[in-house]
Amino acid sequence: MKLVVAIIKPFKLDDVREALAEVGVQGITVTEVKGFGRQKGHTELYRGAEYVVDFLPKIKLEVAVADDQLDRVLEAISQSARTGKIGDGKIFVSALDQVIRIRTGELDGDAL
Ligand SMILES: Nc1ncnc2c1ncn2[C@@H]1O[C@H](COP(=O)(O)OP(=O)(O)OP(=O)(O)O)[C@@H](O)[C@H]1O
Ligand SMILES: [Mg+2]
Repeated sequence: MKLVVAIIKPFKLDDVREALAEVGVQGITVTEVKGFGRQKGHTELYRGAEYVVDFLPKIKLEVAVADDQLDRVLEAISQSARTGKIGDGKIFVSALDQVIRIRTGELDGDAL
């Protein structure tokens, strides 16, 4: 299993949620976060050595997926979150060791 963490533009959340539902994702965790990438939150690339960092509001999306779902999920997020402009965000993928559905005690694939 994999844990997919995506940082996206807030106004793209609905599109991404729909795209994930279409590829069979059953659950998503969403958090309002702030961050910056390589433009340091500025809308244009600054070349000076000294400038302040602006944290911009972003949405962090967490989705636990089966290995055989991963490619479809990454494609769904990439396509639905993309505007083509800076700040579209990033997707981080990590190994996920264990999942437990608390109500039933089901594990891993059965618990996703
Ligand atoms: N290396 C990183 N580690 C953790 N979070 C990051 C990293 N890079 C970007 N982020 C998060 O993703 C958000 C969006 O990043 P962003 O899309 O601006 O990345 P970028 O590398 O600057 O790419 P682009 O040039 O397309 O803007 C940031 O506000 C931050 O929350
Ligand atoms: Mg950026």
